[in-house]
Amino acid sequence: MSTYPESFEALVRRRQSIRQFFDTPVPKEVIESVLSDAQRSPSNCNTQPWQVHIVSGEKRDELSTALLDAHDNSRPSPDFYFDMAEYPEPYVERNHAHAKARYDALGIARDDREGRAANLRRNLEFFDAPHVALLFMPQFGDGVRVAGDLGMYGQTFLLSLTARGLGGIPQTMLGLYADTVRDALKIESQFRMLYGISFGYPDRRHPINGYRVGRVPIGESVVFHE
Ligand SMILES: Cc1cc2nc3c(=O)[nH]c(=O)nc-3n(C[C@H](O)[C@H](O)[C@H](O)COP(=O)(O)O)c2cc1C
Repeated sequence: MSTYPESFEALVRRRQSIRQFFDTPVPKEVIESVLSDAQRSPSNCNTQPWQVHIVSGEKRDELSTALLDAHDNSRPSPDFYFDMAEYPEPYVERNHAHAKARYDALGIARDDREGRAANLRRNLEFFDAPHVALLFMPQFGDGVRVAGDLGMYGQTFLLSLTARGLGGIPQTMLGLYADTVRDALKIESQFRMLYGISFGYPDRRHPINGYRVGRVPIGESVVFHE
């Protein structure tokens, strides 16, 4: 199994959300190495509350069909409420900057609602990735700390993919159809779905993977106290 020796700084900056994959499957032992890396993520009081389902092959195709059906027939079933319209500034502006870069890369105009809807739907085809990891969490309390732990897990997972020449994309959109996912994979209802990560070999020549999303200066996120 090959790894890519590079500095941590370079690795973090090379990671990007991938939205077009080749359909070539990733060898099982490589997936297991990524899972083993992600398992090293920190968690509140070492609770390791992540429950991860890796879906590949025929099951992946069946799941995508079920998700598209739920989406096309307006049957969302999120475990966790999400409405981007409720975000105040400055978060809206940052979202717009990303959306603009994304749609410009694809040549989709601002008023092209159909083009945007079709692009959104690609989430449920896992952007052609051969694998998807679905991140579930046990249901108790307000779930905030457990959700934080799942975020830690996701970033380690994504960096491990990147270090191995793979790529991935975290997807809230998959969690908007939590009941559909649970039904398709026969997952017990006590586990709630936070998000998914489609992953595989990135098609780096596709324009959707050809732009990078900026970050605000650290002064907008960090306050130093001395
Ligand atoms: C928890 C989480 C959920 C996300 N959900 C989606 C999603 O459903 N669809 C999508 O295209 N991108 C999704 N993204 C990707 C973000 O748009 C992306 O991380 C952000 O624009 C920064 O770009 P970068 O990851 O390429 O650095 C998600 C990211 C995170 C962390």
